[in-house]
Amino acid sequence: MSDKPLVMVLNGPNLNLLGTREPDIYGTETLDDIAGRLEDEARELGVAVDLRQSNHEGHLVDWLHEAASVEARAVILNAAAYTHTSVALRDAVAAISVPVIEVHLSNPHARERFRHRSHISPVARGVIAGLGAEGYSLALRAAATL
Ligand code: DQA
Repeated sequence: MSDKPLVMVLNGPNLNLLGTREPDIYGTETLDDIAGRLEDEARELGVAVDLRQSNHEGHLVDWLHEAASVEARAVILNAAAYTHTSVALRDAVAAISVPVIEVHLSNPHARERFRHRSHISPVARGVIAGLGAEGYSLALRAAATL
């Protein structure tokens, strides 16, 4: 077990398909590519990262609770489509004292109307959107200083 501060990086539905999923919107990097880069950056920042992905809302809720119980430094959360639909995820973010940074590869505000509402943003510490995979790195840098 690492004694470095832990940053959990939680990813929601369909993000396992990054690389081949609508590359014009989400880019060509896979989630494994992103994980590898975050590992390198985490080493330089002196934190540990634990990147996970699930297509199931309840897994994400459970992982947010886990972040609190292991006293993670921060959570980086790309809840994907659940951002726009999930009161359960919003409540989980609000229920924990671990700061949550909301990340999106695309800029949902520049897309369809149904993506304009985020249930997560009002309870997130910060939001990074529209900068592609670089958004995760920026969030990690912020998380390390929280
Ligand atoms: C997303 C944006 C969401 O609207 C969408 O449902 C996703 C990915 C993003 O990273 O740009 O699955 O969260």
